[in-house]
Amino acid sequence: MTYTDLLFEKSFVNGEWINENTTQFEIINPVDLSIISRVYNDDRTMVKRAIDSASEAFKTWKKTSAKERSSLLMKWYDLIIANKNEIATIMTLESGKPIAESLGEIEYGASYIQWFAEEAKRNYGDVIPGFTTEKRIITLKQAVGVVGAITPWNFPLAMITRKIAPALAVGCTVVIRPSEETPLTALAINYLAHKAGFPKGVINTVVGTNASEMGKELCENSKVAKISFTGSTTVGKILMQQCSDSLKKMSLELGGNAPFIVFDDADIDLAVAGAIAGKFRFGGQTCVCVNRILVQENIYETFVEKFIEATKSLKIGNGLDTDVKIGPLINSKAITRMQEMITDAIKKGGKVVLGGNFIAPQFFEPTIMIDASVDMLLAKNEIFGPIAPIFKFKTEEEAIEMANDTIYGLASYFYTKDLNRTWRVREALEYGIVGINDGLISSEMVPFGGVKQSGQGREGSKYGMDYYVDIKYICIGNVE
Ligand code: SIN
Repeated sequence: MTYTDLLFEKSFVNGEWINENTTQFEIINPVDLSIISRVYNDDRTMVKRAIDSASEAFKTWKKTSAKERSSLLMKWYDLIIANKNEIATIMTLESGKPIAESLGEIEYGASYIQWFAEEAKRNYGDVIPGFTTEKRIITLKQAVGVVGAITPWNFPLAMITRKIAPALAVGCTVVIRPSEETPLTALAINYLAHKAGFPKGVINTVVGTNASEMGKELCENSKVAKISFTGSTTVGKILMQQCSDSLKKMSLELGGNAPFIVFDDADIDLAVAGAIAGKFRFGGQTCVCVNRILVQENIYETFVEKFIEATKSLKIGNGLDTDVKIGPLINSKAITRMQEMITDAIKKGGKVVLGGNFIAPQFFEPTIMIDASVDMLLAKNEIFGPIAPIFKFKTEEEAIEMANDTIYGLASYFYTKDLNRTWRVREALEYGIVGINDGLISSEMVPFGGVKQSGQGREGSKYGMDYYVDIKYICIGNVE
């Protein structure tokens, strides 16, 4: 099989490839702006059709046994792993992600399917002591119903599987609306799910460019029980408003503004390696990427020097070349955002000590900005690109205050060798995720999610299925 055998051009609804609109949109390779493929541009009407089909399928899917669902998920997992090279090529072509990272994402994304295939068999309820002598009490965890999954371009596979694997495991059916920048990976894995044997209507993917109307249908349609969204805080708030009328359940994995604190007792080389991994993963385009590097004043120069040296070694180019570590940014808007942030930071006293330049057609050099300050755009906003601003702090209290001075609360990182400090700082950081002496924190085995305006709910781990079930309490009375 070559990757072209996994290229599809239309929505997958009710077990078949289908399009209502005859117009197509182009999927662009961000490396050279060439057209990879054209996909039929479906919209709200097709989303509604997909919801109807998922709602019909739910009637029987929810009654399947946990073992049956588990074994289908495992077959899907095996097919994704067996085709990982082909899917990775598609992912790199449409997102620009370096091929090693695409392969890493496939293993990471598939691991959610494997994990929830196992967890499907452990969707336990409780037996609760009766509150009077003749009562017996149990709880059941039952699938909420149809789930709408709205997913971003930065993890074209993993953000889908992280949502739908737990949903499918407990007996929900799903309608996926992938980003219009990266629909090809989504269609490829939906095809593999079909091959694995999922019944028609259980997994549907609708592709199209009209994100707001498609999202509106998912949020407003009364047949949808739950929305799971990964994307910006701004869009998350809009979806929440749209869901309020029907009081839909929501999981929201939104923006971040991750601090990366380096204390003066840290292993500086370890911190530099962590900052490189945490900052430049997919060119800085992940929600948990390091956004603000805070370094204690007496080691500031040493850290900066070593960080510049390490960053210089990152090769920029086409992600299909295995040496490349930094691919293109996803679109021209991202380039403009980088340029605006740099201009603003320079005006406010920042100094670019490495990079800072746009390279046609759509690359931005890994950039280091020193003397960064809290009033800069790049301190307040999610950068989502390869700019690393470095701030100076004097004391632990100041570092914590700076770290928490944001509306976001997804990932945070700090480096220290002091055991007492690890306790103090981890407890003080207002974040859903804290990496200590480690810049890579993602896994299917851990609860991923944020506090404050970074969202609600957790994905992955033993908690992941909880967000797709209702707990039903059953009281059996008058037991003699
Ligand atoms: C994200 O950027 O939304 C997810 C990052 C991850 O799973 O590590």
